[in-house]
Amino acid sequence: MTSSEIIWWKKGIIYHIYPLSFMDSNGDGTGDIPGIISKIDYLKWLGVNAIWISPVYVSPMADLGYDVSDYTAINPCFGTMNDLDLLIEKLHSVNLRLIVDFVPNHTSVKHPWFQKSRLSKDNPMRDWYIWRDGSVDGGPPTNWLSTFGGSGWEFDEIAGQYYYHAFLKQQPDLNLRNPAVLKELQKVMTFWLDKGVDGFRVDVMWHLIKDRLFRDNPPNPVYLEDEPQYQRLIPAYSTDQPEVMDVVYNFRKVIDFYHERVLIGEIYLPINQLVDYYGFDQQGAHLPLNFHLLVEEWNAQKIYKGINEYEGSLPPDAWPNWVLSNHDRPRVISRIGIGQARIAALLLLTLRGTPTIYYGDEIAMEDSPVTPDKTKDLGGQSRDAQRTPMQWDSGPNAGFTSGKPWLEIGKNFKVCNVEQQRQQASSMLDLYRRLIDLRKSQPALHCGNFIPVGINGDIFAFLRTTEGDNTVFLIAVNLSHTAGTFSIPPRFNIPGSILLSTCNNRNNEHITREIVLEGDEGIVVKILSTK
Ligand code: GLC
Repeated sequence: MTSSEIIWWKKGIIYHIYPLSFMDSNGDGTGDIPGIISKIDYLKWLGVNAIWISPVYVSPMADLGYDVSDYTAINPCFGTMNDLDLLIEKLHSVNLRLIVDFVPNHTSVKHPWFQKSRLSKDNPMRDWYIWRDGSVDGGPPTNWLSTFGGSGWEFDEIAGQYYYHAFLKQQPDLNLRNPAVLKELQKVMTFWLDKGVDGFRVDVMWHLIKDRLFRDNPPNPVYLEDEPQYQRLIPAYSTDQPEVMDVVYNFRKVIDFYHERVLIGEIYLPINQLVDYYGFDQQGAHLPLNFHLLVEEWNAQKIYKGINEYEGSLPPDAWPNWVLSNHDRPRVISRIGIGQARIAALLLLTLRGTPTIYYGDEIAMEDSPVTPDKTKDLGGQSRDAQRTPMQWDSGPNAGFTSGKPWLEIGKNFKVCNVEQQRQQASSMLDLYRRLIDLRKSQPALHCGNFIPVGINGDIFAFLRTTEGDNTVFLIAVNLSHTAGTFSIPPRFNIPGSILLSTCNNRNNEHITREIVLEGDEGIVVKILSTK
């Protein structure tokens, strides 16, 4: 298959926007849809192909939009439905796509469905949520924990029963075993697809179905006291149930009714379980999100092993994907430092599969801790640090707002911002731009094969190839701060010349079998001949 025949979500790059923090157009201190529209030029210049926006639906904002009280209306703090329509139109006019968040696992307590459901045991919507009587000893129905800590069950006085919430108690879980609920959620998808959105990122896909028998979760034998409380148990009965795939297939059916749309699933599971979400004959999620680079310890042996395990576990024809950061986890720079974050960017944009870039990572934004009295996130350990406003320039409020930003701007914004980095040849933004350009211009990089070359200490290498034109790229990365060498095994054809290095300008430098890399260096080499 040639590059031009490959669908956009396979060869393209996704850029994840947290709308509250991207760009404020009206000075109220929170980012909004017109703000995103005003930055389309930037997205185009950066070279990404699609944006995924975290939820902008009507919500009491207990979980900052992931507690939806109306799935088909826009929260006024983000703008209007007209703004959303305009966003779709403007993105499409420059060949960019829009992926929206879809939160089918739970609603807000304020959603009319929940308000009706809690009223009485015999009302038609009772079974839309997960209601249970307490256990015989008077406690909650099961030992299931909320991801954010504490019991996952809340007793509701009006209902006279407990309801289950995998996240905040303001986010009751829907009962997706109920066909009426599923049908209503499919209608929500249809509403947005008819508007022209190009796909969904489905929130917490692995949570959608719970054990029919409501069995207690077993204790986690390797739990350590300082770990989050949720990890005390293995969520064997509250997540990743086999029947979840029926829900995923039903979502996919809606997607497949439309032309070239994508179904992405947020799934934190070990690789062997994750790949099940592609589904039988790949009728499940197109892209079950792969968080290996986000959750794994940053160590060459573990990262290389995980890459190979992932590649080796993918069902035939399943398309891979890679994520470095998101709004729930510390930013990549804060996890592994600036030097290694450059390596991570290189991996993200040269591995096989669709990359997702989290806004601000391209300018090396760091976590910016917010003091507990100012925290906006109620979800257990505050996630505000990785959600601070985008740093556009060195002017007031980093160019994000003319008002008071909803979260404090990162302290380093005077030196870490788009305007400055656009002019600096060695900036993170410049590196992202070069990597994106290279990836887009080379079929071997955006749709070619992946071949592992080997690992030696902290350095590993792999090839990207295309069958048709014989182009081969070698990527070698040093995951330590000290220089090292890597010897390419004799079965691979070398030499080549360097196209890009994360450190110095080594362009066109000739490479033979012995590769010398500086600390924190990664390179892309074009192999000159494979004959
Ligand atoms: C997902 C979202 C996260 C949210 C949770 C509950 O993990 O990414 O931000 O808190 O779901 O909806």
